[in-house]
Amino acid sequence: MTGATGFIGQHVHRALLDAGHYVTAVIRPERAEVPLDPRCHILRASLFDGEALRSAVQNATAMIALAGAVRGSSGEQFASVNTDSISVLRRVMETNAVDTPLLLMSSLAASQPELSDYAASKRSGEAIITQSALRWCALRPPAVYGPGEKELRPLLTWLVRGVIIVPGSLANRISFIHVADLTAACLAWLNHAQLLQRRIFTLDDGTTGGYDWADIEKAVCDRRRLRLVLPPAFLRLLGRLNASWASLTGTAPMLSPGKVNELLNPHWVGSGETEGNNAFTALTGWRPQWTLKAGVQQTMQTR
Ligand SMILES: NC(=O)c1ccc[n+]([C@@H]2O[C@H](COP(=O)([O-])OP(=O)(O)OC[C@H]3O[C@@H](n4cnc5c(N)ncnc54)[C@H](OP(=O)(O)O)[C@@H]3O)[C@@H](O)[C@H]2O)c1
Repeated sequence: MTGATGFIGQHVHRALLDAGHYVTAVIRPERAEVPLDPRCHILRASLFDGEALRSAVQNATAMIALAGAVRGSSGEQFASVNTDSISVLRRVMETNAVDTPLLLMSSLAASQPELSDYAASKRSGEAIITQSALRWCALRPPAVYGPGEKELRPLLTWLVRGVIIVPGSLANRISFIHVADLTAACLAWLNHAQLLQRRIFTLDDGTTGGYDWADIEKAVCDRRRLRLVLPPAFLRLLGRLNASWASLTGTAPMLSPGKVNELLNPHWVGSGETEGNNAFTALTGWRPQWTLKAGVQQTMQTR
């Protein structure tokens, strides 16, 4: 698997090991610390080095491509990991006639590639795999939360304190999935890869149509609420300032103009363009276990 060191990868690689699988984690050669379970076999290789990836790919019984750039200051930064590295993986598999099942962690963002560089890069990465003859399956999670997650955490911290910070409009709809449910879906794929091949699934926590901000508020806050609705113009200005600061300092901003577009998007919910929970459950028996309320409480009790 790639991306084992990330938020989702930390959960997935440990769950795979706990289920008795042998896991090879492909990590950046330059990474000094390796915060992985010691049971993991580590391959230090660039995602762009086909030759270094070849033996891992040839020896694998299944592959999970989780590595992804979720923040960046340019389209190239997103495309490099989310698209180009998938292209290298495809080429290595095709050149070596590897017929191993491949799970690609795409994103609900891939359904609206026009929104941001991130969304476009996830869509292109998905297209590289879906236009191949490989035995692929792609998952499109919406917002993933749970222990270890950093980007949504400040928002959730304020929420449980009774302050709801709303980007744009209270009417915007968002769907969520707890990382434990997404991890369980990865394991379900491993056990049913044959049935799931050449299909894309948008998985969420089972709340049809997702949540508007009032729903989120009801699900999460127990205290008196203070609503702070951030106007689109303010967010767009913040996104532009962040982008300028990032280009001056060479950093990768989370709140980029593209991220602002994503935050202001009125409909972050599966569209029917792909298959959803019901089809995935019918094929694998997987069902989401975490409600937003229980999941947020559990997340806030962990570091
Ligand atoms: N979190 C969400 O809400 C969400 C929603 C939908 C889809 N996804 C997708 O799920 C995947 C994992 O997301 P995440 O939230 O776990 O992100 P994350 O915490 O930022 O982890 C990203 C992972 O990708 C690796 N990576 C990034 N660039 C790399 C590069 N150039 N070479 C090698 N490895 C690289 C990182 O390695 P290092 O640790 O070495 O940087 C890390 O292991 C991504 O593909 C993302 O698009 C996430």
